[in-house]
Amino acid sequence: MLSVRFTLNGQPVTAEIHPGQTLLEYLRSTGFFSVKYGCGHGECGTCTVLVDNMAMNACLLLMPVLENRRVETLEALESDAELAELQELFIDEGAIQCGYCTPGMLLSLVALLREDSKPDINAIRDALSGNLCRCTGYVKPVSAAERFILCR
Ligand code: FES
Ligand code: FES
Repeated sequence: MLSVRFTLNGQPVTAEIHPGQTLLEYLRSTGFFSVKYGCGHGECGTCTVLVDNMAMNACLLLMPVLENRRVETLEALESDAELAELQELFIDEGAIQCGYCTPGMLLSLVALLREDSKPDINAIRDALSGNLCRCTGYVKPVSAAERFILCR
């Protein structure tokens, strides 16, 4: 076993892990169920989290690389009024059906908006390009994000 110290949703954490454990396994075993298991090998984006403000696939991150990093999941942003507005726009646009991909999409957009407060449609498409959706497709999530940016 190894100890890894990092910040999770603003709280310092010391995790006792085995070296091959992924961040996705760790998060789901500790109750962060917004982080979804999809493909397990970096292709679907359902496990997207923010690491030092960058959107990353938690299934590809081995726990030891997180030492001293800052990890955020959607749970950290539950009380964020701007994110609530973006979620409302996802609903309004019909961008959510089963919702399995939605936390990952939202976090990919949060990462983009932290870097660029007024991204254009190409930047939005790029940001969502790693998040697969088998129900809704991509036009509606992109429209929701565009509306959100227009209203800012
Ligand atoms: S579960 Fe991580 S990218 Fe699919
Ligand atoms: S809404 Fe079902 S996978 Fe995207």
